[in-house]
Amino acid sequence: MATVTYAKASRIYPGTERPAVNQLDLQIGDGEFLVLVGPSGCGKSTSLRMLAGLEDVDDGAIYIDERDVTHLPPKARDIAMVFQNYALYPHMSVYENMAFALKLRKTPKAEIDRRVKEAAGLLQLEEYLSRKPKALSGGQRQRVAMGRAIVREPQVFLMDEPLSNLDAKLRVQTRTQIASLQAKLGITTVYVTHDQVEAMTMGHRVAVMLDGVLQQVDTPRALYDTPANVFVAGFMGSPAMNIKTVALNERGAAFAELHIPLTREQVEAARGEGGNDKVTVGFRPEDCDLVSPTEGGMPVVVELVEDLGSDANVYGHAALEGHEERFVVRTDRRTMPNMGDTVFVKPRAGRNHVFHAATGQRI
Ligand SMILES: Nc1ncnc2c1ncn2[C@@H]1O[C@H](COP(=O)(O)OP(=O)(O)OP(=O)(O)O)[C@@H](O)[C@H]1O
Ligand SMILES: [Mg+2]
Repeated sequence: MATVTYAKASRIYPGTERPAVNQLDLQIGDGEFLVLVGPSGCGKSTSLRMLAGLEDVDDGAIYIDERDVTHLPPKARDIAMVFQNYALYPHMSVYENMAFALKLRKTPKAEIDRRVKEAAGLLQLEEYLSRKPKALSGGQRQRVAMGRAIVREPQVFLMDEPLSNLDAKLRVQTRTQIASLQAKLGITTVYVTHDQVEAMTMGHRVAVMLDGVLQQVDTPRALYDTPANVFVAGFMGSPAMNIKTVALNERGAAFAELHIPLTREQVEAARGEGGNDKVTVGFRPEDCDLVSPTEGGMPVVVELVEDLGSDANVYGHAALEGHEERFVVRTDRRTMPNMGDTVFVKPRAGRNHVFHAATGQRI
């Protein structure tokens, strides 16, 4: 059991100018499941590898509990990592794969046996212990990789996209298994994914990164409800939030036919020192209604309707400040329009998100 602290930790790969991870400040609590999420190349794996000791820390420090591990070799850090490709030894049985690290450490045989069997029980791998990896399904291999990490009883688990080789259905199942296993074991876990659904459903807290810079870290709910900037707002949630930069006036934002009221403080903050005449406004697909033409919604021409069974996503476009802009609205099945229809979209009062047009920061 342990806490993890990144203290302004940076990694600049030799021959590159921009840090792959830039002054990362992040505290992870004892027993916490923290998910690192962000688009490809944002520095997730690098952050994880820095913690594992597989990558140099060029500036700042990393602590496990109070212990400064910044320059310790990987094996002195008491962590176990599960990689995307599992890296199982093909010539060894499941049992031997799981026992391998303990054997290297000269753990007594009886102790190895106890730990391997316990992990196999947790992961429902008992009946496969004598099989070779090639005789296992993708999901079973994934569980062996987890088992290998569990038997080491580390202070911290690190997982780098451990589900990306599984098909969609198995990924959903395994995601639940990993989350409940982590809860049972209570081992501090840092989990990397680029999938925001995985991040939202698995993490106690989620850290969102972009271009090596931590954007926001909070509970999934808080990230969704109060994204700190335009990037986080657009990244978390599927379909993505509708985010548009429009004209700002004394009373709010002019959104085509819609007027989105803003408080005086919001208008002032949006205007800023430079006297901005624009503001960025966002609303989630589920935070608007389709209304009748007389109720003053924004006319949106429907291009595509995605029937999800329980409800539907309606994709379309509207004219906004002389451009054609795309919108998506989540609607009830009963009010599902057809392609080519014009619907009238009205964001729900108080459910919009307002950002500074130049900095993208939440207002
Ligand atoms: N060994 C290396 N040498 C130089 N640059 C590297 C090296 N490894 C990674 N990078 C760069 O550092 C940045 C961060 O890479 P990283 O692998 O951490 O991204 P990631 O968020 O894990 O992306 P993905 O989702 O694609 O796995 C990228 O711009 C990448 O090109
Ligand atoms: Mg990666």
